[in-house]
Amino acid sequence: MQRKDLISIADLSGEEVADLLRLAAEVKAHPGRHAQALAGQILAMVFEKPSLRTRVSFEAGMLQLGGHAITLGPADISMGSRESVPDVARNLSRFAQGIMARTFAHATVTTLAEHATVPVINGLTDLLHPCQALADMQTLAEARGGLAGLRLAFVGDGNNVCHSLMNAGARVGVSVTAVVPPGYEPDAGIVAAAAREGEGRGARIQVTHSLEEGLAGADAVYTDVWASMGQESEAESRRTIFAPYQVNARTFALARADALFMHCLPAHRGEEVTDEVCDSPRSVIFDQAENRLHAQKAVLIRLMAARAAG
Ligand code: CP
Ligand code: NVA
Repeated sequence: MQRKDLISIADLSGEEVADLLRLAAEVKAHPGRHAQALAGQILAMVFEKPSLRTRVSFEAGMLQLGGHAITLGPADISMGSRESVPDVARNLSRFAQGIMARTFAHATVTTLAEHATVPVINGLTDLLHPCQALADMQTLAEARGGLAGLRLAFVGDGNNVCHSLMNAGARVGVSVTAVVPPGYEPDAGIVAAAAREGEGRGARIQVTHSLEEGLAGADAVYTDVWASMGQESEAESRRTIFAPYQVNARTFALARADALFMHCLPAHRGEEVTDEVCDSPRSVIFDQAENRLHAQKAVLIRLMAARAAG
């Protein structure tokens, strides 16, 4: 990969995304071939927010590549108050060969990347969730035998997950339509840039308020929590606003009869999705969770193995 860090899928070319997805499939099929790819290397993981999948998949991934991961929670380092973000980056660069960070402000991850001399991987910010989108594209490709020409409807809040899906879809030829209530659209700049990037690959990146319009012909229906981490105080008001956008048997039926159900998890069952859809045979949510491991191992190899060798 050209860049030192993985901050946004928008920083990658279509070929770089395709390469990561090829390597993710290879790593999944033949984990033993990569058992020493990061022998002796250390990944420092900085969390300002809770996590199940990101923490466990990165830690397991580092172990499976012959390395080790160190988890640092908010109470451990108090980034930004006990020590400045640049100084955290400079210190961690002396101990670890890579940094993964989950932060509130997107600028915190970009500041870490700017001041770290080792690769920084975005493990979710308020703006983006690139590792999730890579795992999601791997999951779609496995389920459908390829990606080009597929249509994904993202229903709910135009949030970090929605943004990264748009960036990824635009680079692999998957059309992404955000189906959101008025006032909860994804960032207009991200939508416009992804739409431009998708032209020529047949990927249409769009926003609609209409479930009927957005879900018609969709190969996958994706949703996420209505209130993301950090928006807890809005959870109550959002429950009312987003209620019509619940993915349930009736709304899921607006998509193709064989459409997949996707969710990055954690799910708030009974809110953005019903148990019936979440647990249906067309739900691939736990494949998405598993593929976090494989997709991120591909990212770790591409960012860290080459630097160690060089
Ligand atoms: N999907 C995801 O990132 O899960 P966690 O918040 O549990 O890491
Ligand atoms: N949009 C959610 C995703 C969690 C993985 C959040 O930011 O909380």
